[in-house]
Amino acid sequence: MISIVYVSAATQPFSPAELDALLEKSRANNTRDGISGVLLYRDGDFLQVLEGPEEAVRRTYERIARDRRHSGVIVLDESEMDERNFGEWSMGFRRVNAGDSLDGYVNFFDRKADLSGVVNTSGEVFRYLQSFRELA
Ligand SMILES: Cc1cc2nc3c(=O)[nH]c(=O)nc-3n(C[C@H](O)[C@H](O)[C@H](O)COP(=O)(O)O)c2cc1C
Repeated sequence: MISIVYVSAATQPFSPAELDALLEKSRANNTRDGISGVLLYRDGDFLQVLEGPEEAVRRTYERIARDRRHSGVIVLDESEMDERNFGEWSMGFRRVNAGDSLDGYVNFFDRKADLSGVVNTSGEVFRYLQSFRELA
């Protein structure tokens, strides 16, 4: 199995209804394809992790990367793994408020962020993504 983590910017802000439709479609596809993950939306920016069988993850990522509803897609991490981090979610979703602090974390939403100083980028970004599990 592999996981891919990327950030991107919405070409136009998503309304709540548009986000709902995107999630409904994504969850149906991901359930079909054995993919799990989480999607964060913060002030027009997305941060998403996709995990599952390599071929399915790559195919899904390629489809997402071509989607014109967002642009500036940058892969932050690609890893092989044995166990899923988000197995319970066909696509978990959290809206993160722009003012929310990223205390203790690199601002992964900032595509200009210099990640070179991050010792273990994948460990850090997964820890950040997993911190959203505890939120209701
Ligand atoms: C930020 C973002 C995240 C997305 N995440 C997923 C996803 O996890 N799974 C998925 O199948 N499609 C996802 N999509 C939608 C795909 O780009 C594409 O529209 C969809 O997979 C097409 O599905 P269809 O071929 O069944 O119509 C996402 C799109 C955006 C903009």
